[in-house]
Amino acid sequence: MKILVAKDESTAIKKAAQFFLETALSSVKERGQFTVALSGGTTPLKFYSLLADDFYRSKVPWQKTYVFWGDERCVPSDHPDSNYRLAKETLLGKVPLPESHIFRMAGEMTPPLEAARSYENNLRSHFKVSLSLPKFDLIHLGVGEDGHTASLFPRTEALKEKNHWVVANYVEKYSSNRLTFTFPLINNARKILILCKGSSKAKIVRDMLRTDFTPHGLPLQQVELKDGEVLWIMDSSAASLMTSEAIENATHV
Ligand code: 6PG
Repeated sequence: MKILVAKDESTAIKKAAQFFLETALSSVKERGQFTVALSGGTTPLKFYSLLADDFYRSKVPWQKTYVFWGDERCVPSDHPDSNYRLAKETLLGKVPLPESHIFRMAGEMTPPLEAARSYENNLRSHFKVSLSLPKFDLIHLGVGEDGHTASLFPRTEALKEKNHWVVANYVEKYSSNRLTFTFPLINNARKILILCKGSSKAKIVRDMLRTDFTPHGLPLQQVELKDGEVLWIMDSSAASLMTSEAIENATHV
């Protein structure tokens, strides 16, 4: 895993956008398409807005880009908590991405298990696989203060899932279900971008990187690619509690 510590949030966002563009261009060059799964939460807001700006809007090969989500709340697509709505409003509605290239998780579908199975079928048909795992060119993840990523929260059932690619995961903390990729699918990606910012994430960043921490004690610690690249981009506030060893091993921009 490579860690990039940016001097401020704006630099972190720019580095994330550059990485997204590079990955999109190389994926299209090598395989004729760019498959990306987006994260939810609030961190991506400025990242998505930058991708919708003139420069990236004109450079990213949107006509060959296919957009998925790594997780979704069990709400309708127009609900304020919808990850789809966040991305649609800040990015997808502003770039020349064909509607048919957007694969929304049906958060409104009940039971949530049906929504998860239906999304798995969408993955099977797009990636043209039946049993073997789909391989995303890029999965974009955030991290919560409790170390969750996607909707893989500590002490939830989905952490143990070894077979299904997408599951409905009941999250006690919110007394609600979430739809989420599982680790087998996440860890089969070619590249992973973890983006985080702000002092509220400083403690979890420190705990995630401390070598003496209980392995797999935090869900994000279970993100490890067999043969892919994990890039963690954060701003200096999120990096403010990192150990000197972790700081030394990071790239500073
Ligand atoms: C979600 C996200 C989730 C998010 C973290 C961090 O659906 O909420 O996928 O994993 O990345 O909760 O959220 P913030 O960016 O709001 O801190």
